[in-house]
Amino acid sequence: MEMMTRGRRNRRSAAIRGLVRETRLAAEDLILPLFFHADAEDVAISSMPGCTRWSLRGLVAEVKSAHALGIRAVVLFPKIDEDLKTPDGAECANDAGLVPQAIRAIKEACPDVCVITDVALDPYNSDGHDGIVVKEGESLKILNDETVEVLCRQALCHARAGADIVAPSDMMDGRIGAIRVALDEAAFEEIGIMAYSAKYASAFYGPFRGALDSAPKEGDKKTYQMDPANVREAIRELLMDEEEGADIVMVKPAGPYLDVIARLRDETTLPIAAYQVSGEYLMIKSACAGGWLDEKAVVMESLIGIRRAGADMILTYFAKEAAAWLSGKSD
Ligand code: PBG
Repeated sequence: MEMMTRGRRNRRSAAIRGLVRETRLAAEDLILPLFFHADAEDVAISSMPGCTRWSLRGLVAEVKSAHALGIRAVVLFPKIDEDLKTPDGAECANDAGLVPQAIRAIKEACPDVCVITDVALDPYNSDGHDGIVVKEGESLKILNDETVEVLCRQALCHARAGADIVAPSDMMDGRIGAIRVALDEAAFEEIGIMAYSAKYASAFYGPFRGALDSAPKEGDKKTYQMDPANVREAIRELLMDEEEGADIVMVKPAGPYLDVIARLRDETTLPIAAYQVSGEYLMIKSACAGGWLDEKAVVMESLIGIRRAGADMILTYFAKEAAAWLSGKSD
Protein backbone atom coordinates (compact mmCIF):
# COMPACT_ATOMS: atom_id res chain seq x y z
CA MET A 1 0.00 0.00 0.00
CA GLU A 2 1.19 3.50 -0.71
CA MET A 3 0.64 5.85 2.20
CA MET A 4 2.28 9.18 2.98
CA THR A 5 1.25 9.03 6.63
CA ARG A 6 1.23 6.08 8.98
CA GLY A 7 0.00 6.69 12.53
CA ARG A 8 1.55 3.48 13.78
CA ARG A 9 5.14 4.77 13.26
CA ASN A 10 4.72 6.82 16.45
CA ARG A 11 3.50 3.77 18.38
CA ARG A 12 6.31 1.39 17.33
CA SER A 13 8.24 1.14 20.59
CA ALA A 14 7.89 2.05 24.23
CA ALA A 15 10.57 4.72 23.78
CA ILE A 16 8.75 6.40 20.88
CA ARG A 17 5.40 6.13 22.68
CA GLY A 18 7.06 7.87 25.64
CA LEU A 19 8.26 10.71 23.41
CA VAL A 20 4.86 11.36 21.90
CA ARG A 21 2.85 10.91 25.09
CA GLU A 22 0.59 13.93 25.63
CA THR A 23 -0.51 13.49 29.24
CA ARG A 24 1.38 12.31 32.27
CA LEU A 25 0.42 11.25 35.74
CA ALA A 26 2.67 11.69 38.77
CA ALA A 27 2.26 11.01 42.47
CA GLU A 28 2.34 14.77 43.05
CA ASP A 29 -0.92 15.10 41.06
CA LEU A 30 -2.75 12.89 43.54
CA ILE A 31 -4.69 13.80 46.68
CA LEU A 32 -5.54 11.01 49.13
CA PRO A 33 -8.95 11.23 50.86
CA LEU A 34 -8.82 9.88 54.42
CA PHE A 35 -11.59 8.77 56.78
CA PHE A 36 -11.12 8.83 60.54
CA HIS A 37 -12.98 8.78 63.84
CA ALA A 38 -12.39 9.42 67.54
CA ASP A 39 -12.20 5.69 68.42
CA ALA A 40 -8.87 4.05 69.20
CA GLU A 41 -9.40 1.27 66.64
CA ASP A 42 -8.75 1.31 62.89
CA VAL A 43 -11.86 -0.15 61.24
CA ALA A 44 -12.19 -1.56 57.73
CA ILE A 45 -14.98 0.22 55.82
CA SER A 46 -17.39 -2.40 54.54
CA SER A 47 -18.91 -0.17 51.83
CA MET A 48 -15.41 0.59 50.46
CA PRO A 49 -13.21 -2.54 50.46
CA GLY A 50 -9.55 -1.59 50.90
CA CYS A 51 -10.40 1.64 52.74
CA THR A 52 -10.12 2.16 56.49
CA ARG A 53 -11.69 4.49 59.00
CA TRP A 54 -8.59 5.40 60.98
CA SER A 55 -8.02 6.24 64.62
CA LEU A 56 -5.98 9.44 65.03
CA ARG A 57 -2.84 7.33 65.47
CA GLY A 58 -3.64 5.22 62.44
CA LEU A 59 -4.38 8.37 60.44
CA VAL A 60 -0.96 9.86 61.11
CA ALA A 61 0.74 6.55 60.23
CA GLU A 62 -1.26 6.40 56.98
CA VAL A 63 -0.24 9.95 56.03
CA LYS A 64 3.40 9.03 56.66
CA SER A 65 3.14 5.93 54.52
CA ALA A 66 1.43 7.88 51.70
CA HIS A 67 4.09 10.58 51.94
CA ALA A 68 6.83 7.95 51.63
CA LEU A 69 5.22 6.94 48.31
CA GLY A 70 5.31 10.54 47.04
CA ILE A 71 1.77 11.66 47.95
CA ARG A 72 2.00 15.24 49.12
CA ALA A 73 -1.64 16.16 49.76
CA VAL A 74 -4.49 14.64 51.76
CA VAL A 75 -8.11 15.60 52.31
CA LEU A 76 -9.79 14.82 55.64
CA PHE A 77 -13.26 13.33 56.21
CA PRO A 78 -14.28 12.79 59.84
CA LYS A 79 -16.92 10.44 61.17
CA ILE A 80 -18.47 12.37 64.01
CA ASP A 81 -20.06 10.63 67.00
CA GLU A 82 -23.84 10.57 66.73
CA ASP A 83 -24.29 12.38 70.07
CA LEU A 84 -22.28 15.39 68.81
CA LYS A 85 -24.61 15.92 65.85
CA THR A 86 -27.09 18.81 66.08
CA PRO A 87 -29.44 20.59 63.64
CA ASP A 88 -26.99 23.54 63.35
CA GLY A 89 -23.87 21.33 63.12
CA ALA A 90 -22.10 23.57 65.68
CA GLU A 91 -19.48 20.89 66.45
CA CYS A 92 -17.90 21.68 63.05
CA ALA A 93 -16.28 24.81 64.51
CA ASN A 94 -15.05 23.28 67.78
CA ASP A 95 -11.31 24.01 68.09
CA ALA A 96 -10.96 20.92 70.29
CA GLY A 97 -12.94 18.77 67.84
CA LEU A 98 -11.80 15.77 65.84
CA VAL A 99 -10.73 17.58 62.65
CA PRO A 100 -8.55 20.20 64.39
CA GLN A 101 -6.93 17.39 66.39
CA ALA A 102 -6.22 15.49 63.17
CA ILE A 103 -4.80 18.55 61.39
CA ARG A 104 -2.45 19.30 64.28
CA ALA A 105 -1.31 15.67 64.56
CA ILE A 106 -0.61 15.40 60.81
CA LYS A 107 1.16 18.75 60.65
CA GLU A 108 3.34 17.79 63.58
CA ALA A 109 4.34 14.46 62.06
CA CYS A 110 4.53 15.54 58.39
CA PRO A 111 4.79 19.33 58.13
CA ASP A 112 5.38 19.16 54.34
CA VAL A 113 2.11 17.42 53.61
CA CYS A 114 -0.61 19.75 52.31
CA VAL A 115 -3.66 19.26 54.53
CA ILE A 116 -6.97 19.97 52.80
CA THR A 117 -10.18 19.98 54.83
CA ASP A 118 -13.78 19.40 53.80
CA VAL A 119 -16.04 22.32 54.62
CA ALA A 120 -19.68 21.19 54.81
CA LEU A 121 -22.11 20.32 57.58
CA ASP A 122 -23.12 16.75 56.67
CA PRO A 123 -20.88 14.91 59.16
CA TYR A 124 -22.09 17.21 61.97
CA ASN A 125 -25.68 17.82 61.06
CA SER A 126 -28.30 15.59 62.68
CA ASP A 127 -30.29 15.79 59.42
CA GLY A 128 -27.36 14.52 57.33
CA HIS A 129 -27.48 17.48 54.94
CA ASP A 130 -24.64 19.80 53.94
CA GLY A 131 -26.59 22.76 55.29
CA ILE A 132 -29.09 23.67 58.00
CA VAL A 133 -32.50 22.12 57.41
CA VAL A 134 -35.95 23.51 58.16
CA LYS A 135 -39.19 21.69 57.50
CA GLU A 136 -41.77 23.51 55.42
CA GLY A 137 -44.89 21.38 55.56
CA GLU A 138 -43.94 18.11 53.91
CA SER A 139 -40.81 19.43 52.22
CA LEU A 140 -37.33 20.23 53.47
CA LYS A 141 -35.61 23.51 52.94
CA ILE A 142 -31.85 23.91 53.21
CA LEU A 143 -31.13 27.42 54.51
CA ASN A 144 -28.43 29.05 52.39
CA ASP A 145 -27.25 32.21 54.09
CA GLU A 146 -27.51 30.82 57.64
CA THR A 147 -25.46 27.81 56.53
CA VAL A 148 -22.77 30.02 54.97
CA GLU A 149 -22.25 31.72 58.36
CA VAL A 150 -21.58 28.35 59.99
CA LEU A 151 -19.30 27.29 57.11
CA CYS A 152 -17.21 30.43 57.67
CA ARG A 153 -16.78 29.47 61.31
CA GLN A 154 -15.83 25.92 60.25
CA ALA A 155 -13.24 27.19 57.73
CA LEU A 156 -11.72 29.51 60.37
CA CYS A 157 -11.53 26.63 62.83
CA HIS A 158 -9.62 24.53 60.27
CA ALA A 159 -7.30 27.44 59.47
CA ARG A 160 -6.53 27.98 63.17
CA ALA A 161 -5.59 24.31 63.49
CA GLY A 162 -3.15 24.59 60.58
CA ALA A 163 -5.02 23.49 57.44
CA ASP A 164 -3.33 24.61 54.20
CA ILE A 165 -6.42 24.61 52.00
CA VAL A 166 -10.12 24.52 52.87
CA ALA A 167 -12.44 22.78 50.41
CA PRO A 168 -16.13 23.77 50.64
CA SER A 169 -18.11 20.81 49.28
CA ASP A 170 -21.54 22.05 50.33
CA MET A 171 -22.71 23.90 47.16
CA MET A 172 -24.36 26.79 49.06
CA ASP A 173 -24.44 30.04 47.09
CA GLY A 174 -21.91 32.72 47.99
CA ARG A 175 -19.84 30.57 50.32
CA ILE A 176 -16.53 31.00 48.51
CA GLY A 177 -16.64 34.79 48.77
CA ALA A 178 -17.86 34.71 52.37
CA ILE A 179 -15.15 32.23 53.42
CA ARG A 180 -12.50 34.27 51.59
CA VAL A 181 -13.51 37.42 53.48
CA ALA A 182 -13.66 35.58 56.81
CA LEU A 183 -10.19 34.09 56.29
CA ASP A 184 -8.68 37.41 55.19
CA GLU A 185 -10.20 39.30 58.12
CA ALA A 186 -8.58 36.78 60.47
CA ALA A 187 -5.19 37.23 58.74
CA PHE A 188 -5.40 33.82 57.04
CA GLU A 189 -4.87 35.34 53.58
CA GLU A 190 -2.40 32.54 52.74
CA ILE A 191 -4.96 29.76 53.23
CA GLY A 192 -6.28 28.60 49.86
CA ILE A 193 -9.81 27.66 48.84
CA MET A 194 -10.47 24.59 46.70
CA ALA A 195 -14.06 25.08 45.58
CA TYR A 196 -16.26 22.11 44.74
CA SER A 197 -17.65 24.23 41.91
CA ALA A 198 -19.41 21.59 39.81
CA LYS A 199 -20.56 19.04 42.36
CA TYR A 200 -23.35 16.90 40.99
CA ALA A 201 -26.21 15.25 42.90
CA SER A 202 -24.69 11.86 42.17
CA ALA A 203 -25.63 8.32 43.13
CA PHE A 204 -21.90 7.55 43.02
CA TYR A 205 -21.48 9.02 46.54
CA GLY A 206 -23.34 6.11 48.14
CA PRO A 207 -20.34 4.18 49.56
CA PHE A 208 -18.87 7.39 51.05
CA ARG A 209 -22.04 8.12 52.97
CA GLY A 210 -21.90 4.54 54.25
CA ALA A 211 -18.29 5.13 55.37
CA LEU A 212 -19.25 8.16 57.44
CA ASP A 213 -22.86 7.40 58.31
CA SER A 214 -23.64 10.76 56.73
CA ALA A 215 -26.53 9.98 54.39
CA PRO A 216 -29.42 12.48 54.52
CA LYS A 217 -32.03 11.29 57.02
CA GLU A 218 -34.74 12.62 54.74
CA GLY A 219 -34.92 13.96 51.20
CA ASP A 220 -32.02 14.31 48.76
CA LYS A 221 -29.38 16.90 47.88
CA LYS A 222 -30.89 18.05 44.58
CA THR A 223 -31.71 21.58 45.73
CA TYR A 224 -28.01 22.35 46.18
CA GLN A 225 -25.95 19.77 44.25
CA MET A 226 -26.18 20.00 40.45
CA ASP A 227 -28.37 18.11 38.02
CA PRO A 228 -26.24 15.48 36.19
CA ALA A 229 -27.83 16.63 32.93
CA ASN A 230 -26.23 20.09 33.02
CA VAL A 231 -22.92 21.46 31.79
CA ARG A 232 -23.62 25.15 31.08
CA GLU A 233 -24.62 25.43 34.71
CA ALA A 234 -21.19 24.05 35.69
CA ILE A 235 -19.56 26.91 33.80
CA ARG A 236 -21.83 29.37 35.60
CA GLU A 237 -20.85 27.91 39.01
CA LEU A 238 -17.19 28.00 37.98
CA LEU A 239 -17.36 31.68 37.01
CA MET A 240 -19.07 32.60 40.29
CA ASP A 241 -16.48 30.73 42.37
CA GLU A 242 -13.65 32.25 40.33
CA GLU A 243 -15.00 35.73 40.93
CA GLU A 244 -15.44 35.01 44.63
CA GLY A 245 -11.76 34.11 44.98
CA ALA A 246 -11.43 30.34 44.53
CA ASP A 247 -7.82 29.21 44.07
CA ILE A 248 -8.66 25.77 42.67
CA VAL A 249 -11.98 24.58 41.25
CA MET A 250 -13.32 21.04 41.29
CA VAL A 251 -15.49 18.75 39.23
CA LYS A 252 -17.09 15.83 41.08
CA PRO A 253 -17.58 12.95 40.27
CA ALA A 254 -14.79 12.62 37.68
CA GLY A 255 -15.17 9.60 35.37
CA PRO A 256 -18.78 10.11 34.25
CA TYR A 257 -18.17 13.89 33.94
CA LEU A 258 -15.04 14.10 31.76
CA ASP A 259 -16.82 16.43 29.35
CA VAL A 260 -17.49 18.82 32.24
CA ILE A 261 -13.79 18.82 33.14
CA ALA A 262 -12.91 19.53 29.50
CA ARG A 263 -15.45 22.36 29.25
CA LEU A 264 -14.23 23.99 32.46
CA ARG A 265 -10.62 23.64 31.23
CA ASP A 266 -11.56 25.89 28.30
CA GLU A 267 -13.26 28.44 30.53
CA THR A 268 -10.70 29.05 33.27
CA THR A 269 -7.01 29.55 33.87
CA LEU A 270 -7.41 28.25 37.43
CA PRO A 271 -6.12 24.78 38.32
CA ILE A 272 -8.84 22.11 38.11
CA ALA A 273 -9.21 19.24 40.56
CA ALA A 274 -11.38 16.20 39.81
CA TYR A 275 -12.73 13.80 42.43
CA GLN A 276 -12.84 10.11 41.50
CA VAL A 277 -15.55 9.36 44.06
CA SER A 278 -16.39 6.36 46.20
CA GLY A 279 -18.78 4.77 43.68
CA GLU A 280 -16.18 5.01 40.90
CA TYR A 281 -13.67 3.38 43.28
CA LEU A 282 -16.11 0.65 44.21
CA MET A 283 -16.99 -0.17 40.59
CA ILE A 284 -13.34 -0.75 39.75
CA LYS A 285 -12.59 -2.57 43.02
CA SER A 286 -15.48 -4.96 42.74
CA ALA A 287 -14.86 -5.77 39.08
CA CYS A 288 -11.22 -6.48 39.90
CA ALA A 289 -12.07 -8.54 42.99
CA GLY A 290 -14.11 -10.78 40.70
CA GLY A 291 -11.06 -11.16 38.47
CA TRP A 292 -12.93 -9.51 35.60
CA LEU A 293 -10.67 -6.50 35.20
CA ASP A 294 -6.94 -5.95 35.70
CA GLU A 295 -6.79 -3.51 38.63
CA LYS A 296 -3.49 -1.77 37.90
CA ALA A 297 -4.26 -1.26 34.21
CA VAL A 298 -7.81 -0.06 34.82
CA VAL A 299 -6.92 2.29 37.68
CA MET A 300 -4.09 3.90 35.71
CA GLU A 301 -6.29 4.24 32.62
CA SER A 302 -9.08 5.84 34.65
CA LEU A 303 -6.62 8.35 36.18
CA ILE A 304 -4.87 9.27 32.92
CA GLY A 305 -8.30 9.74 31.34
CA ILE A 306 -9.20 12.27 34.02
CA ARG A 307 -5.87 14.09 33.49
CA ARG A 308 -6.37 14.03 29.70
CA ALA A 309 -9.80 15.64 30.08
CA GLY A 310 -8.04 18.58 31.71
CA ALA A 311 -7.73 17.96 35.45
CA ASP A 312 -4.47 19.10 37.03
CA MET A 313 -4.99 17.06 40.19
CA ILE A 314 -7.11 14.08 41.20
CA LEU A 315 -8.66 13.14 44.52
CA THR A 316 -8.69 9.35 44.47
CA TYR A 317 -8.91 6.46 46.91
CA PHE A 318 -6.36 4.74 44.65
CA ALA A 319 -3.71 7.43 45.37
CA LYS A 320 -1.35 5.14 47.29
CA GLU A 321 -1.61 2.21 44.88
CA ALA A 322 -1.14 4.52 41.91
CA ALA A 323 1.87 6.22 43.50
CA ALA A 324 3.44 2.83 44.21
CA TRP A 325 2.80 1.67 40.63
CA LEU A 326 4.21 4.94 39.24
CA SER A 327 7.43 4.52 41.20
CA GLY A 328 7.75 0.92 40.04
CA LYS A 329 7.72 -0.25 43.67
CA SER A 330 4.77 -2.50 43.10
CA ASP A 331 3.13 -4.32 40.22
C1 PBG B 1 -20.10 15.83 51.60
C2 PBG B 1 -19.22 15.07 50.70
C3 PBG B 1 -19.61 13.94 49.98
C4 PBG B 1 -18.49 13.47 49.31
C5 PBG B 1 -17.41 14.31 49.63
N1 PBG B 1 -17.89 15.32 50.49
C6 PBG B 1 -20.92 13.25 49.93
C7 PBG B 1 -22.10 14.02 49.56
O1 PBG B 1 -22.05 15.13 49.04
O2 PBG B 1 -23.18 13.50 49.85
C8 PBG B 1 -18.48 12.25 48.45
C9 PBG B 1 -17.17 11.66 48.14
C10 PBG B 1 -17.23 10.28 47.59
O3 PBG B 1 -18.29 9.73 47.26
O4 PBG B 1 -16.14 9.69 47.46
N2 PBG B 1 -19.88 17.13 51.84
